[in-house]
Amino acid sequence: MALRQILHHPDPRLRNKASPVASFDAELGKLIDDMLETMYDAPGIGLAATQVNVHQRVVVIDVSGEKSTPLHFVNPVIAETTGEEEMEEGCLSVPGVFETVCRAEEVLIHAFDRNGDPFEMNADGLLAVCIQHEIDHLDGKLFVDYLSQLKQLRIRKKLAKEQRQYD
Ligand code: NI
Repeated sequence: MALRQILHHPDPRLRNKASPVASFDAELGKLIDDMLETMYDAPGIGLAATQVNVHQRVVVIDVSGEKSTPLHFVNPVIAETTGEEEMEEGCLSVPGVFETVCRAEEVLIHAFDRNGDPFEMNADGLLAVCIQHEIDHLDGKLFVDYLSQLKQLRIRKKLAKEQRQYD
């Protein structure tokens, strides 16, 4: 396994729309393992392949807080949504920014595992929020896109300033 570099907003590669995975091979397995390692190292609770500059529809999540429940979703689709819920979100690609976003309260996900076997999962609470956030990444969308223009501008300025300090 290997750590992969996480792209930071406003990197334009975060805006790419990911393609569906076509072959469930060893390369896909390695990508999933690397993404889990990268997510745990960060540390974070979810990571989309887009964030490590791989533009395929792959997501990893572990909301357990103790690395005990690693999940992966290949070609995930939200089949049904119920209700609405506001929750504070953050993102490994938007470091240091936490803002409240409104999303569906419950979702039914259709996806494939690393072997190409299809599965369904009902999710609510933090897991539901996380999967919606990660699928957005696959479509080139960030959680800050839901905020007001003014807030988005402030966040871009803050991140650009921090970026200059690291360079
Ligand atoms: Ni994110």
